[in-house]
Amino acid sequence: MTPRTRIEWTVDRETRFPFGRVSPDPARWHPIGFPPPWPDRPWIYGVMVASANGVVAWRRRDDADDPVRAILGGGDRPERIADRRHMRMLRCFGDAAVGAQTVRDQPTLLLTPQEPGDEPVPELYRFRAEHGLSHHPRNIVYSLFGRLPPEHPIFTTDGLEPIVVTTDAGAGELARRGLDAPRVARVVDYVREPRGLVRAHQRLGTDHGVRYLACEGGEIDEVFLTVTDVVVDDARHDGVLRIMDFEAEGAALVAEGQIAPDSGWRFQRWRFADR
Ligand SMILES: NC(=O)c1ccc[n+]([C@@H]2O[C@H](COP(=O)([O-])OP(=O)(O)OC[C@H]3O[C@@H](n4cnc5c(N)ncnc54)[C@H](OP(=O)(O)O)[C@@H]3O)[C@@H](O)[C@H]2O)c1
Repeated sequence: MTPRTRIEWTVDRETRFPFGRVSPDPARWHPIGFPPPWPDRPWIYGVMVASANGVVAWRRRDDADDPVRAILGGGDRPERIADRRHMRMLRCFGDAAVGAQTVRDQPTLLLTPQEPGDEPVPELYRFRAEHGLSHHPRNIVYSLFGRLPPEHPIFTTDGLEPIVVTTDAGAGELARRGLDAPRVARVVDYVREPRGLVRAHQRLGTDHGVRYLACEGGEIDEVFLTVTDVVVDDARHDGVLRIMDFEAEGAALVAEGQIAPDSGWRFQRWRFADR
């Protein structure tokens, strides 16, 4: 028998469905709603995974020391399949973003509904096409210094449009690496400062038509958080980073689900922005 991997949301307070209250495949996914984008910038939702004791990352000892893999735990358990499918579906509502370090750490990463090696998901691409979205989401990379590998598939995959959000210095480095127009679009601003980052997000909206942005590893308006059943022993790692205490920071739990009542994994949605 195929294990259950559909997340059953026992709490779901979001009632707005800009793409219609439809799931790309109801057997696999509950429909996900969103508020409208802001008038001057996209709606930005983080996608993160934390261990049962709140760890999200640590300083890697070497290439094999991958915090996210460890937090997810071994094996292709039903929860891991559910989490992977959830993450792929969250790439279907607009465009997707990631930090430069993650691009350097993961030489095969593509922020697409189907990554190389994944099961085929024609329904997710159909969902995008039916809602007037490009075949692949734009892959938006945040980088201060522009030290990105030109051979990375984000920059070489046919039909996938990369955009780098960077500084003047970063733009210079990208040009030296051949990662400039027309091959790679860039949004250049003083993105080290919050005001520069806000302007960059406005330009993602006005200049590039970005309306919904899945930010893998970040959190701005809200975050889709997977809490696994792995307990990380902090003492065995350096530079441990923990997930913030969303409730204490004033975020609201908008949705919560599990794939089965006895599963140790929780799928949550925490919202900071009141919209
Ligand atoms: N648990 C999770 O869900 C999760 C998700 C993602 C990542 N992680 C883990 O977390 C660790 C680090 O991830 P991370 O999120 O800190 O790294 P990251 O996603 O790669 O982002 C860090 C990079 O972002 C760029 N950057 C920083 N501030 C910026 C700004 N204001 N504007 C534009 N670019 C900016 C810098 O790029 P330059 O170096 O080019 O200047 C910096 O190196 C990794 O080990 C990764 O595996 C965990």
